[in-house]
Amino acid sequence: MNHDSLVTVTKLLQMKKADEKISVLTSYDASFTTLIENAGCEVILVGDSLGMVVQGKESTVPVTMTEMLYHTTMVRRSSENCLVIADMPFLSYSTKELALKNAGKLMKHGGAHMVKLEGGAIRLETVKALSDNSIPVCAHLGLLPQSIHKLGGYKVQGRDDSQASSILDDALALQHAGADLLVLECVPAPLAAKITNSIDIPTIGIGAGVECDGQVLVLYDMLGITSGKRPRFSKDFLLESNGSVQTAINNYVSAVRDRSFPAVEHSYK
Ligand code: KIV
Repeated sequence: MNHDSLVTVTKLLQMKKADEKISVLTSYDASFTTLIENAGCEVILVGDSLGMVVQGKESTVPVTMTEMLYHTTMVRRSSENCLVIADMPFLSYSTKELALKNAGKLMKHGGAHMVKLEGGAIRLETVKALSDNSIPVCAHLGLLPQSIHKLGGYKVQGRDDSQASSILDDALALQHAGADLLVLECVPAPLAAKITNSIDIPTIGIGAGVECDGQVLVLYDMLGITSGKRPRFSKDFLLESNGSVQTAINNYVSAVRDRSFPAVEHSYK
């Protein structure tokens, strides 16, 4: 481990200020983590998407704390410089007390550097409690996969004015409560750009356009190995990489840095 190259919350803030794009990929095990590290990606997300792409479940809802701890530990075993975010699974942060207990486990036992949770206004007290206890927080707005049974499907969020302004208000409030990073999933690119320009913390987009401060993709989607239809916002980087997984990951990081990904066809109006 090279301590000078460790990615920290401070470094991510500096990157936003310097207008340098932040690349993020999901990882769930030690071997892929090494390839992501080799590519110079800044952040690894141990996403609860593992419920779908690793476990073959219908949604992220059934993922448990035990499973998140297991995968976070494997990722941290081979991570060197990347900042590692662990997703808090469904209902593991429904009260601030529960959130503190479970985020503590992901950091103390799993080795996570930051935790991610979904939701806006209803999470403010929890985000403040985590932040006050020195737990870095990545918030997540727009399409919230853990709320899929309430949302009724994986749809773009924030297309009408009132929904757009509530997502913007949530972003400002989450920043105020102490969030360090904000994932924006499946929101129109102009809304994501407005949010990115309105807050000081970095935004990480997935289906949110090129103006976000960084991008995240589910690793298995960008390698084209997810079963079923690939989401519009994703791109198969393995196709143009002569079958080399390392080259595909390198090309993703370069494309995020030079802003060639996401292109218009990966974004929503
Ligand atoms: O679980 C996950 O992989 C995520 C990303 C899609 C942002 O939350």
